[in-house]
Amino acid sequence: MVKICCIGAGYVGGPTMAVIALKCPDVEVVVVDISAPRIEGWNSERLPIYEPGLDDVVRQCRGRNLFFSTDVERHVADAGIVFVSVNTPTKTRGLGAGKAADLTYWESAARIIADVSRSDKIVVEKSTVPVKTAEAIEKILAHNSKGGNIRYQILSNPEFLAEGTAIQDLFSPDRVLIGGRETPEGRAAVAALKSIYARWVPDDRIITTNLWSAELSKLAANAFLAQRISSVNAISALCEATGADVTEVANSIGKDSRIGPRFLSASVGFGGSCFQKDILNLVYICECYGLPEVANYWRQVIRINDYQKSRFVNRVVSSMFNTVAGKKVAVLGFAFKKDTGDTRETPAIDVCKGLVGDKAVVSIYDPQVTEEQVQRDLVMNKFDWDHPRHLQPMSPSSAKHVAVSWDAYEAARGAHAVCILTEWDEFRRLDYQRMYDAMHKPAFLFDGRNVVDPDKLRRIGFVVYSIGKPPDHWLRDMPAVA
Ligand code: UDX
Ligand code: UDX
Ligand code: ADP
Repeated sequence: MVKICCIGAGYVGGPTMAVIALKCPDVEVVVVDISAPRIEGWNSERLPIYEPGLDDVVRQCRGRNLFFSTDVERHVADAGIVFVSVNTPTKTRGLGAGKAADLTYWESAARIIADVSRSDKIVVEKSTVPVKTAEAIEKILAHNSKGGNIRYQILSNPEFLAEGTAIQDLFSPDRVLIGGRETPEGRAAVAALKSIYARWVPDDRIITTNLWSAELSKLAANAFLAQRISSVNAISALCEATGADVTEVANSIGKDSRIGPRFLSASVGFGGSCFQKDILNLVYICECYGLPEVANYWRQVIRINDYQKSRFVNRVVSSMFNTVAGKKVAVLGFAFKKDTGDTRETPAIDVCKGLVGDKAVVSIYDPQVTEEQVQRDLVMNKFDWDHPRHLQPMSPSSAKHVAVSWDAYEAARGAHAVCILTEWDEFRRLDYQRMYDAMHKPAFLFDGRNVVDPDKLRRIGFVVYSIGKPPDHWLRDMPAVA
């Protein structure tokens, strides 16, 4: 029986391995992690991450050919294929701080593999890493091997799943990408990994490339996706100024088959653990290779995203007579997108910090995010979110200005404004009349995700702002926003 071990039981490692176990009942899959609470969660009825369909897959395989364990050494030693899916945060100090990837966790995983291996292994990069990481890993493995003449083949097999649709994406991926060395041993390793995916992924969707192309493709794919959002968000600002409607513009653009309709929704900004981190990493690599023009081109994608978030906060504050001090503002949605409880780099963090900075009293409702998580996010420094050891306790002063409610109507009761920051389906179905009746007047609604029909809400009496749509008279008369 082939044995697969995955180091790192996070958003990528957990779901990916669960689906491999489901599709390959003859393969034993063990997911290991240094975090005991994480592993306990995976072994419990309440999984540590919320992902539609995941519970069902785990229930079918756990205890059969899918296992979760903290015994990293034992399972790595036994496996023929070792996936590495640990976090690769942005460095917060030292050379490349704020841009380069911090490979501490990756290096520690590689050293464990070198320490415990007694047989040949295929080591698969699953987490996004800077181009040429495979080379560094090869060196660590070659120079630290304790088990005699052990051969390692490093493969790059970046994961393209998106949160909220992870199971669907894993079941029918647009493509599976496997990069390896162009040697007979490298090709054999690629074939071995390919044979796993080939159980359920059609052959023409499994792409094999050299190692560096695979590593760079992941960074490039995320940079292109993020760039589309920054492009449509940049256009949304112009729409508001000119009276065009960004949904109409996006629809027209998307009909061009060279552009395509997906991933063109204007928003309060993109979030998630990948986009900003991967672009910063790309920027850093370009600078290291003496390509400042390329670095600046990609940096602009992040600048527009930051601009979009601060533009939203400015809109809220300026519309409400230039002050939100002491006013209750309800925030609907805190996760970085719908169908996930993940808040990493969510635009809601910057928006809430901006509102609290202007002394608003913020009341948050999100169906999947806990109060503890919100408080932690709001006191954390930039980039610390992916450095588990830097977690700080909640600050009492910020806690005073932010409350979390388990009901959208409760969050909006007595509020001056509602801000929609995540596109949860349930926000489309809320009884906005009921909400309006319990709010201060004028009641404002700022839709950062274009989930409500502005005309319908205006008829109720709301003053409505929707990203990239012609603002109503009220907002047009307010001072221009920066
Ligand atoms: C992304 C990539 O899609 C995935 O392929 C990669 O493996 C990891 O990074 P993820 O971050 O999980 O996945 O979610 P995604 O759906 O890409 O959304 C990222 C952010 O962009 C979210 O904040 C989302 O709300 C925002 N977004 C997305 C928009 O603002 N508009 C859109 O049209 C699409
Ligand atoms: C363009 C638009 O495609 C068309 O919809 C619009 O009406 C007018 O402008 P055109 O300029 O005729 O049409 O040609 P197009 O095929 O878009 O190519 C423009 C330039 O981009 C060319 O120099 C072409 O060589 C270059 N190009 C195009 C690339 O370098 N790479 C590509 O992948 C595609
Ligand atoms: P991703 O979104 O890429 O899956 P996560 O942060 O969700 O990232 O998951 C990464 C996981 O890797 C965390 O649960 C972390 O505890 C684990 N991890 C980091 N370093 C090691 C290591 N050396 N050995 C085992 N697990 C590790």
